[in-house]
Amino acid sequence: MRAVDLIQKKRDGKELSTEEINWLISNYAQGQVPDYQMSAMAMAIYFQGMSVNEIRDLTMSMVKTGQEIDLSSIEGIKTDKHSTGGVGDKVTLILAPLVASFGVPVAKMSGRGLGHTGGTLDKLESIKGYQIDRTQEEFIQQVKDIGVSVIGQSDQLVKADKLLYALRDVTATVDIIPLIASSVMSKKIAAGADSILLDVTVGDGAFMKNLDDAETLSRTMVALGNEVGRKTVAVVTNMSQPLGRAVGNRLEVLEALEIMQDKGREDVTEFICELAQVMLELAGRHEELATIKEHLVNGQALKKFEEMVAYQGGDLEDLYRPSQAQYITEVKAEKDGYITALPALEFGLIAMRLGAGRAVKTDALDYETGLVFDKKVGEFVSKGDVVLKVYSNQELDQAVLADCQANITIGDVQEKPKEILKIIS
Ligand code: URA
Repeated sequence: MRAVDLIQKKRDGKELSTEEINWLISNYAQGQVPDYQMSAMAMAIYFQGMSVNEIRDLTMSMVKTGQEIDLSSIEGIKTDKHSTGGVGDKVTLILAPLVASFGVPVAKMSGRGLGHTGGTLDKLESIKGYQIDRTQEEFIQQVKDIGVSVIGQSDQLVKADKLLYALRDVTATVDIIPLIASSVMSKKIAAGADSILLDVTVGDGAFMKNLDDAETLSRTMVALGNEVGRKTVAVVTNMSQPLGRAVGNRLEVLEALEIMQDKGREDVTEFICELAQVMLELAGRHEELATIKEHLVNGQALKKFEEMVAYQGGDLEDLYRPSQAQYITEVKAEKDGYITALPALEFGLIAMRLGAGRAVKTDALDYETGLVFDKKVGEFVSKGDVVLKVYSNQELDQAVLADCQANITIGDVQEKPKEILKIIS
């Protein structure tokens, strides 16, 4: 087989066979198919799409390019969750210990943030001492011992995705449903959990900009998971504004702690309880929302979170330390009215400029910086009210302040956005 023939076949809108996809992916992972040919293939897929069979073959061939984690020695139905990315998305920090507090094992491998989106690993690493690198044996032992572990994705997992994702990132081929679905699901399948909750974000801060595309991506991933015997549900969630109050690593850990101490925003607390209900249901446990909320706010989830942090070497005193950003600058409403837009993409990019995110993979992060919103979309403000605070380690650049101001839209009509837009099972 020759890569050029397969590229031409896809370019011309024909379906690739299982053998062809297996050949392409295994040779790419072994360095036999060069990046320039794989980029051409990604672009051909961008324009021609892929059939259901091709997406399944692509996913499974990617799984085979690395280690597959065997969680079978852990008792019970092992659960995992994945978000397709967002701004202010601290859900895993809360959801993983919350679900584990019901005795349902949570074994999760997370990723880092890139561009305007944050990553759970970076948030956890803002806690002094927290170790994200664990061997497979340590990961499994931790889940057996305390019921939850959140670690970095092993380098041995889905080698093809590592290479392909980096390539897609620089060839404008990230936002394609077949490639996102196979990238996410190959990692989830290789990570070994029995059930998977997918949080598919939609809106200006997400890869999926409209509900139709988010639904198509969700259905594709749910079918892939269920086909290989992993109970999979997707929840389509709103990412038109940052999630919750905080954007930025340390600030998001602090917000997660607030939520687990019943001091968080009510909308985020409810959103997380609804996600937990779906995740528990996937593990065969039906729990009422009221019971889940009780676990979340009465300290049971927090206790589990602290156990996880301590088990992974994190310093529990440092966990509660406020942000040490040197400057806190208030951004105020310029008129009376309802907040109608706080675009997630723009505020994610602003947080990145403050050092809370990476423009390129090698950028170092400033864990202390970011944004904290006092007001969110749908809330009334009077002129002069603080809408958000900017945490920076340099005196705030006037251009950043102007950008924050320009991205707060205030109008006459109150619209309260829903967090969960659809559940696809
Ligand atoms: N997250 C992933 O893991 N892969 C993608 O392609 C997009 C989001």
